[in-house]
Amino acid sequence: MTAMLIKGGTVVGPGGAFAADVLVDGEKIAALTLPGTAPDVARTIDATGRYVIPGGVDAHTHMELPFGGTSASDTFATGTAAAAWGGTTTIIDFAVQRAGESVQDGLAAWHAKAEGQCHVDYAFHQIIGGVDEASLKAMDSLVADEGITSFKLFMAYPGVFYSDDGQILRAMQQARENGAVIMMHAENGIAIDVLVAQALARGETTPVHHGLTRPAALEAEATGRAVHLAEVARDVPLYIVHLSASGALEKVAEARDAGRNVFAETCPQYLYLTLEDQLGAPGFEGAKWVCSTPLRSRHEPHARDLWKGLRTNDLAVVSTDHCPFCFKDQKELGRGDFSKIPNGIGGVEHRVDLLYQGVVDGRISLERWVETIAATPARMFGLYPRKGVIAPGSDADIVVYDPAGRTRISAGTHHMNLDHSAWEGFEIAGRVDTVVSRGSVLVRDGAFHGRKGHGRYLPRGLSRYLI
Ligand code: URP
Ligand code: ZN
Ligand code: ZN
Repeated sequence: MTAMLIKGGTVVGPGGAFAADVLVDGEKIAALTLPGTAPDVARTIDATGRYVIPGGVDAHTHMELPFGGTSASDTFATGTAAAAWGGTTTIIDFAVQRAGESVQDGLAAWHAKAEGQCHVDYAFHQIIGGVDEASLKAMDSLVADEGITSFKLFMAYPGVFYSDDGQILRAMQQARENGAVIMMHAENGIAIDVLVAQALARGETTPVHHGLTRPAALEAEATGRAVHLAEVARDVPLYIVHLSASGALEKVAEARDAGRNVFAETCPQYLYLTLEDQLGAPGFEGAKWVCSTPLRSRHEPHARDLWKGLRTNDLAVVSTDHCPFCFKDQKELGRGDFSKIPNGIGGVEHRVDLLYQGVVDGRISLERWVETIAATPARMFGLYPRKGVIAPGSDADIVVYDPAGRTRISAGTHHMNLDHSAWEGFEIAGRVDTVVSRGSVLVRDGAFHGRKGHGRYLPRGLSRYLI
């Protein structure tokens, strides 16, 4: 591979924005030079008037996840191509172990799905859906031998992935010993199931009832419980996934104010979409926005608080929780019973743009944009400094972003394998211009140059984000 120079742009990282040319040699960044001082090279990308940022790291995706009686509609091939189109050059997906199954078999199944299929680099977290002696032991060997250093547990979805408090504590204790991060889906699934049964018995079957039966208080309660359980497990690092509600954020902020290793992510859907406007759309339309945690009410200050949390770092990361299901034949499984609508929204393609809109709107700084979409997820999950930063020696995963461009989101133009868009008609001031992954140009001038199999598995180290 020949050298490449990205010149004339403004390099942005958490520490600031500055004019520099970026010299790429093979798969790595070789140097950052003063503008105009780099040697002549075979290939030049003109980034004049544009930002040069590290490729996005989406720490929460579910390609091909079997869930809700069907499977997420993006394969590793289609989903990682869509990620690349949107400026994300690394995904961390979730391998699954269910109760009674072996963790190693679950992980092997996810490797088999992804290997040779991905357009961008990928890593795995491991879902532990059945905490028992064998899975606890397996956690140690995944950390030691497989490059898997984070485990997701569920306080939601009884009978599917749910763990009770004793199981959660045991897994947390194990992680405290082996150095891993515990990721938590924090909703009180037992109480939610009662509310769901009561709603259905009253004949309340439409999609909006998905949100109404998963109240914010039950996210706050579970988040607080997870924080306390992590404290009992001697402050095991705890990362709350897809945080959507003010009350849950307060629990995280309280723990962080006390100096605890408690972190959280949110997702674009909770920053922009609401229970009334999307989930409450007429008829069955709202099924497109059924996800858990659910969209929250616009009459409560959740979205405002989440933006504030992003500024204060009580929310450290923005991921997508990309889990797409087509409307036809998939979301439609829940016509007449909202509890049968497969849970998930597709958005891996749009995270970088949607968060840039936060910069344009004055909600977050340019530096914070890059920190939440790339640098922090890389540090949090043991990929830094290989990923998440433009620095000599790092992988040449680079996005040239055009602040003067515009992005209009539509199912007619997106690249996800999804027959609708949760973001239909959204227009963003900004546009992904060029995407480079390990020195290879994947996207340039509106054309895709990526190739299936370019993406490699990334064994991860321990978190570099702990207090
Ligand atoms: O609705 C969601 N979030 N689906 C994916 C599974 C999960 O809980 O992350
Ligand atoms: Zn979840
Ligand atoms: Zn998820």
